[in-house]
Amino acid sequence: MIFTVAHQKGGVGKSTIATNLSVEMGAPVIDLDSQHSCYLFSVLRKNEQGKELTVFTPETISEIENVLDDLKSEHVIIDSGGYDNDVNRFALLISDIVVTPVSPSQIEVFGLMKFSEIVTEAKEYNSSLKVYVLINNADPRSSGENRKLQEFIEEDDTFQLLNTKLFRRADYRRAYAEGLSVCEYNSGGKACREIRALIKELLALM
Ligand SMILES: Nc1ncnc2c1ncn2[C@@H]1O[C@H](COP(=O)(O)OP(=O)(O)OP(=O)(O)O)[C@@H](O)[C@H]1O
Ligand SMILES: [Mg+2]
Repeated sequence: MIFTVAHQKGGVGKSTIATNLSVEMGAPVIDLDSQHSCYLFSVLRKNEQGKELTVFTPETISEIENVLDDLKSEHVIIDSGGYDNDVNRFALLISDIVVTPVSPSQIEVFGLMKFSEIVTEAKEYNSSLKVYVLINNADPRSSGENRKLQEFIEEDDTFQLLNTKLFRRADYRRAYAEGLSVCEYNSGGKACREIRALIKELLALM
C-alpha cells in the first residue's frame, strides 16, 4: 500500500508524520520534499544500529516509478513536498491513501480549499483517490477550535476526517532531532499513543 502525506501548504507536519509512520510501520520513505527532511532524519538515526530507515529521493516521475518497481516492502510512505508540481501531483495518482495534515485554524481552512482543487483534478485520473484530513498540532487545551475545520470538511466531499488527532507535543520535535520516532523516544508518551492510533486507523481503512 502507498500512503502519501500530502498538502501543498508548507509546515503542516508532513515530514514529522511521514517519519513516524515509516519507523513504526517498518516502511521505506519516498521523499519528494526538496528540503529532504525524511532523508536527513534517516541520517540522524544512522547510529541506531539495525534500525536504518530506507529513504529514496527520486526527482522525476520516472525515478519514482523505478523506485516502486524495485520495492519489496508491503507498505511505502511518500512525503510529498509542500508545493504544487507534477511530481507531487503524480504521488496523488498512485496513492492508496492520502493523509493531509492541517491544524485547526481558519488560515488552514483556506489552505485546504486550495488543496481541494488539486485533489479534484487528480480525481479525474484516479477516481478512487481518498484523501483523509488529519488534525495535527491541535492545542491540547482547546478542542473547540476543531469545530470550524470539522464543519468545512463535512461540507466538502473531497475530504474525510480521520478520528485520530495529533496534538501539539514537544515529543514530535525532540524525537525528530534524535532521528527517532516518538515511540522510540518516549514509548509511554501521548504522542506515541497518537501515532499508534493513527496507524491502526489507517490500516483499518484498507
Ligand atoms: N504535532 C506536533 N507537535 C509539535 N510540533 C509539531 C507537530 N507537528 C509538526 N510539528 C513541528 O512543526 C514544524 C513543521 O513540521 P514539518 O517539517 O513536519 O512540516 P512539513 O509539512 O513537512 O513542512 P514542509 O512543507 O516545509 O516540508 C516542525 O518544527 C515540527 O517539529
Ligand atoms: Mg516536509
